[in-house]
Amino acid sequence: MAYETIITETRGKVGLITLNRPKALNALNSQILAELVSAVNGFGADPGIGAMVVTGSDKAFAAGADIKEMQAISYVDAYSQDFFVGWEEFTRARKPIIAAVAGYALGGGCELAMMCDFIIAADTAKFGQPEITLGVIPGMGGSQRLTRFVGKSKAMDMCLTGRMMDAAEAERSGLVSRVVPAGELIEEAIRAAAKIADFSLPSVMMAKEAVNRSYETTLAEGLRFERRLFHSLFALEDQKEGMAAFAEKRKPNFTNR
Ligand code: HXC
Repeated sequence: MAYETIITETRGKVGLITLNRPKALNALNSQILAELVSAVNGFGADPGIGAMVVTGSDKAFAAGADIKEMQAISYVDAYSQDFFVGWEEFTRARKPIIAAVAGYALGGGCELAMMCDFIIAADTAKFGQPEITLGVIPGMGGSQRLTRFVGKSKAMDMCLTGRMMDAAEAERSGLVSRVVPAGELIEEAIRAAAKIADFSLPSVMMAKEAVNRSYETTLAEGLRFERRLFHSLFALEDQKEGMAAFAEKRKPNFTNR
């Protein structure tokens, strides 16, 4: 499909999506949302793809929701259209998505990164929830997801003052999983995604589902859920293959797609 605000490529079993509105620092408007969701659904349905990477430019992952598009919206429109609800579809992706963040990840940009499964940051990355400076608050999950990532004190600090966090602080706080030199960001993210994509796809999807469940349920229910998923994996060829390969000291060849 031809997209105007994103670029999609495949690198082996990895689907790479690059946000591409350079003149607006990848501000997230309704078109970019629609295209991103379409690309993620497309890679999700492609049996040749095992994981995805979402990235932006060197200067900006995304500088937020598109302020110019949002500016004139009335309360009635915001409410009746349930403005921003479309992003929930992005979070329904079942294959892993890594956010590769360089430069600004602000407002909706930070929120989009947090909707991915984990974040790899360039040393140039800057995260923030500056909505308060615009007279609003985070609207794509920032107040909820950031708090779960970094805890109440830092989340309050970011949401109330609008200050940015650099890559080192983001790593220290648990917002990002690794920080790499800017020039190595894409390759590092693709390497991580390719590694995931070589594993058993159903196991990968269940691992994602199990970790995500921990945000939604009690420990006892989460443990039960994990155990049931674990049991079900014994129905797969990939479990037989993975364990046989270990015993035979060879590389596994996972085939369940
Ligand atoms: C629309 C944006 C934009 C945005 C940047 N641009 N961010 N357009 N929406 N979120 C546009 C600018 O208007 C400008 O267009 C061009 O991109 C380059 O930006 P500059 O400001 O000239 O660049 P620079 O001086 O380098 O500053 C970079 C920046 C700054 C610090 C990232 O652009 C900035 O503060 N942007 C807004 C960040 C923000 O507040 N994000 C949160 C949005 S609200 P022109 O045409 O002038 O060249 C949100 C959540 C919504 O995301 C939830 C609440 C409902």
